[in-house]
Amino acid sequence: MEIKKQTSLRGEISVPGDKSISHRAVMFGSLANGTTRITHFLNGADCLSTISCFRRMGIDIEQTEQEILVHGKGLHGLCAPREILDVGNSGTTTRLISGILAGQNFVSELNGDASIQSRPMKRIMTPLLSMGADIVSVKDNGCAPLRISGRPLHAVHYNSPVASAQVKSCVLLAGMYADGITSVTEPVLSRNHTEIMLNYFGADVTSDGTTASIIPEPVLEAKDIKVPGDISSAAYFIAAGLLTPNSEILIKNVGINPTRDGILRVCRDMGGDITLLNASDDGEPTADLLVRTSSLRGTTVGGEIIPALIDEIPMIAVMAAFAEGTTIIKDARELKVKESNRIEVMVENLKRMGADIEAADDGMIIRGGAPLHGAVIDSHLDHRVAMSFAVAGTLCEGTMDIEGAECVNISYPDFYKDLYSLGK
Ligand code: S3P
Repeated sequence: MEIKKQTSLRGEISVPGDKSISHRAVMFGSLANGTTRITHFLNGADCLSTISCFRRMGIDIEQTEQEILVHGKGLHGLCAPREILDVGNSGTTTRLISGILAGQNFVSELNGDASIQSRPMKRIMTPLLSMGADIVSVKDNGCAPLRISGRPLHAVHYNSPVASAQVKSCVLLAGMYADGITSVTEPVLSRNHTEIMLNYFGADVTSDGTTASIIPEPVLEAKDIKVPGDISSAAYFIAAGLLTPNSEILIKNVGINPTRDGILRVCRDMGGDITLLNASDDGEPTADLLVRTSSLRGTTVGGEIIPALIDEIPMIAVMAAFAEGTTIIKDARELKVKESNRIEVMVENLKRMGADIEAADDGMIIRGGAPLHGAVIDSHLDHRVAMSFAVAGTLCEGTMDIEGAECVNISYPDFYKDLYSLGK
């Protein structure tokens, strides 16, 4: 797909619902008693994979334009799936559902696309096995397909070597089926949507610094959930608004949970003009973001902020290439095990655009200011790579052609339409 240059962006936009929160709303709604009503749900392929998995386990889920209705059957209401649970491209579906499946009284098998079959699952197998779970990597390579024979679980305290909300959530969800209090400590606090939403449904999850604990056998009751706009999707418009000349855009109703707002902190550090308006807090804090053209300078991104912006690093790398001065991204080894190896893929494609960039083992170094031009971009079917380079394409001369551009369906089906909706 060829991307058109934009000279000025003006107006308002609403981004789709948060992906992490949409997944959890379907999962926890399925395990609650009664009907959970979800509005502003993300109708992207990943969240649809979660819906399809729970349907296969006997949960009735109704989808209309306006809302999703999940007719939950309680903590022990799932039934054995007759087919393999297809998780598609979704790491969140795979890792969170595994925690739930570990505590059921049936056998299930999970599998997904080529990307999912190469992503590390040992990180959830290790804590689940320590809880007494029976979980096997069918090809014995530490990846999906996974076969899980559900059984009663033991409570553990797990010290996670990675700051990963997927690992933390997997263990907490398994902990609902354990014989005592289960807790997880992570090196740095990762996104805490599981803790917030489980408590909203009636569970007892406590958080103390980087440790989260859950009391088993919670009685979850159905809820109404209004999913905030996804800050990870807003990131593309934040970058476009800051970098496109003569621009002012308002991004409505964006989730600004402090475990997710690293992109705002980094953009401000780079000199970005972003104002928060209409802040509110309904469990998950939200605000409208007013973004104006700014001249950006390089910065260093590393340490504790990384989990709060891990999915935004492809966009940050592109912004850094357009900024003046050097940007160092470090402590971000996790980039290698996302939907693609995002260190390699960002370096390869930014070089094609003429950027001065080098890969590091835990990130990248970008010397901004080199003249950039359109190029043929290989998205490696990674939605965040495709969207980051689409923004780059609106900013530079020469044709920007994105291969595999349709992979934005994973998290943002209307992305290209929305991107052009603000142009003059
Ligand atoms: C997610 C957690 C993050 C993030 C992913 C969504 C979640 O992954 O990259 O897109 O919903 O819990 P990790 O937990 O592997 O860091």
